[in-house]
Amino acid sequence: MEKLWSKTKIGKMELPHRLAMAPMTRGRAQEDGTPGEDASLYYAQRASMGLIITEGAQPSDDGQGYLWSPGIYTEKHIEGWRKVTDAVHGEGGYMYIQLMHAGRMSHPDNTPHHRQPVAPSSIAPGVEMFTATGMQDIPVPRELSKEDIQTTIADFRKAAAAAIAAGADGVEIHGANGYLINQFIGESSNTRTDEYGGSIENRARFAIEVARAIVDEIGAERTGFRISPGTPLGGIQDGEQGPELYRYLVQELAQLDLAYLHIMHLGNEELLRDIRSLWTNPLLVNRAGRALEDLSADIDSGLADLVPVGVWSLANPDLVERLQKGAPLNEADPATFFGHGSKGYTDYPTMNELASQER
Ligand SMILES: Cc1cc2nc3c(=O)[nH]c(=O)nc-3n(C[C@H](O)[C@H](O)[C@H](O)COP(=O)(O)O)c2cc1C
Repeated sequence: MEKLWSKTKIGKMELPHRLAMAPMTRGRAQEDGTPGEDASLYYAQRASMGLIITEGAQPSDDGQGYLWSPGIYTEKHIEGWRKVTDAVHGEGGYMYIQLMHAGRMSHPDNTPHHRQPVAPSSIAPGVEMFTATGMQDIPVPRELSKEDIQTTIADFRKAAAAAIAAGADGVEIHGANGYLINQFIGESSNTRTDEYGGSIENRARFAIEVARAIVDEIGAERTGFRISPGTPLGGIQDGEQGPELYRYLVQELAQLDLAYLHIMHLGNEELLRDIRSLWTNPLLVNRAGRALEDLSADIDSGLADLVPVGVWSLANPDLVERLQKGAPLNEADPATFFGHGSKGYTDYPTMNELASQER
């Protein structure tokens, strides 16, 4: 575990240890997509995580998937996020805003313009989504034209600029977990016959163009990228060429000299080792489903430089201190993961608060 507590650097950030907070959608933004009033407190409480990667924030109306997710494309959004970055910096933490375009993982009831969701191809994900009137089937999306694709890349670029204007230390491009960028990568979600579909190079093109545009706008040292090879979320199948596609994508992204690559890892160990050898900048590995005692395994073996932690950091504002002291952890309550209110958001107690309650 010793290496887990050693200092490291990402871009210009001097980080106190090898943990980071993984991005987690919490569904507590205001109606217009401005972060909720409690967001500053929630993130500031977790500043000891060193680097916080925020919940996914949409770069446009089209980009919203879930109800009450925050946006990062209006002046009001920027003002709202500014409060959050100030609060996190005030506690000595760093913050990257995750840019998440949901693509087809959306429902007209959840977006400000109530339009049909967009995607590389008109193929529904085959899953349901929570809306204000309950769970509903996700409709068939509209296929993006080549002009729409350029507009979407421009939206990502503007959102990255907005994140920096809001005081964020950088952005993480969400290329994982079944959302728009992943929909271009996936064989089952992309049947395009133009230069954005078909071959490995074509299916990786959108991801690379988004990354290039953002690097051009805010600089590579402030740009991270998240992928989830082989993860079947949102009805995505990578297909047989999946591992090869990811090797190609990682090599191309490596040439951009990004601040970091973040993998949500579900099990192709050979591919993970290949990615490690193709990627020399910081590699963040979020191994879903690992046991607490294995938290530092990838750091110790040299496979990862940092280990982002999701649910444990959601439920334990003082996770770092608890791990360092070997203290027990609060248990997370999945019923309060999404939706309004401070319950299950800002009211998880620290060890010290628990101790004073017991006295
Ligand atoms: C409530 C919740 C919301 C999530 N939202 C996002 C998100 O917005 N963006 C993302 O990339 N991953 C999201 N994830 C996935 C997490 O970042 C992480 O990969 C996953 O929880 C596994 O890590 P863990 O076992 O440390 O929690 C979410 C997970 C949870 C539990």
